Amino acid sequence: MNYNKKTVTDIDVKGKKVLLRCDFNVPLAKDGSGKITDDKRIRAALPTIQYLLDNGAAVIACSHMGKPKGEWKSELSLKPVAVRLSELLGKEVIMAADIIGEDAQAKAAALQPGQILLLENLRYDKGETKNDPAFAKALADLAGADGIYVSDAFGTVHRAHASTAGVAAYLPAVSGFLIQKELEIIGGALAAPKRPLVAILGGSKVSSKIGVINNLLEIADTIIIGGGMAYTFSAAQGGKIGDSLLEADWEDYANEMVKKAADKGVKLLLPVDTVAADAFAPDANTQVVAAGEIPDGWQGLDIGPKTVELYQAAVADAGTVIWNGPMGVFEFDKFAVGTKAVAEALSKTSAITIIGGGDSAAAVQQLGYAEKMTHISTGGGASLEFMEGKELPGVAALLDK
Ligand code: 3PG
Repeated sequence: MNYNKKTVTDIDVKGKKVLLRCDFNVPLAKDGSGKITDDKRIRAALPTIQYLLDNGAAVIACSHMGKPKGEWKSELSLKPVAVRLSELLGKEVIMAADIIGEDAQAKAAALQPGQILLLENLRYDKGETKNDPAFAKALADLAGADGIYVSDAFGTVHRAHASTAGVAAYLPAVSGFLIQKELEIIGGALAAPKRPLVAILGGSKVSSKIGVINNLLEIADTIIIGGGMAYTFSAAQGGKIGDSLLEADWEDYANEMVKKAADKGVKLLLPVDTVAADAFAPDANTQVVAAGEIPDGWQGLDIGPKTVELYQAAVADAGTVIWNGPMGVFEFDKFAVGTKAVAEALSKTSAITIIGGGDSAAAVQQLGYAEKMTHISTGGGASLEFMEGKELPGVAALLDK
């Protein structure tokens, strides 16, 4: 797949209306107050928005929020995003009452260079996720005959939806600065990494990481396995894993990966010890045991101290480190030690450090190491599919350089 895509700086935006797809799918407070609990994704869109406004474009911003599945769910309105965006930009953000309806059409038509309009949640219309051409065309029409489509929604580029892919059939399509940066850094690390390339893969399930392990076995020099999925590897090798997480259906696959690594000369590191707990609880009793020797009634919830040392040594002289998935149940302090130690090791290396979105990004942020990383992806599913080597429809739709 070609990641060398035209960006906003390759096209004249002056006096044009720009349909700008952002990923404003931000977490909201559970109490229904509409309070945004983390505005990182809104901040990540600011450079592109500011560039467009400063260069004489009128910006029609759009995004999804949650999964309303075509229903008009008021708790998933983008109104709180308009308020926060307006605070961050220091200017009015005009909010449309609909997406492609009368209000959006009238407000888009009246929009002047330097002004910004935000459409309502794209997924209030079923046409969005179905990539309905009529819905895509109606979105494109808001930008008018000489309109431009700019995509900066990296978090959504793995979706072939109307606003991420379909709309590019009707308007010249280029990327914003956020997508450009994600493509350059993650794409660069996958295509021509500074070696050695060490991939740290964690998280609970082997099944959700198969694609990544498989693809990175073609590229990486070392693969480190941690998190809940390590117990399926351990069980597959005949280890005792007590009550730890097990995906029995994936044991053969785990063995295949171990063999593939050996065939390819890739170092595959598995935990040598584990912090076992007598319950899945923050205050559970714990003991450190050797990997593959977890007693019945106990479950592994974090990597052990010897594994920490092994993994820290493995990243110390890395050229590039890609990290996707925590090493343990980091949400509980007692079992955040392994994840924290890996984050700390990354913060100390001179390697390029790339953190996949989702859980790993949350872990690095929660543990206070965010500033020390080269890049924390804004895409969860998107960065995962990128690392799986899959084509990303929202990138493929953009004009090549
Ligand atoms: C995300 O949060 O990963 C993106 O906004 C994509 O959301 P989706 O999984 O609902 O498509």
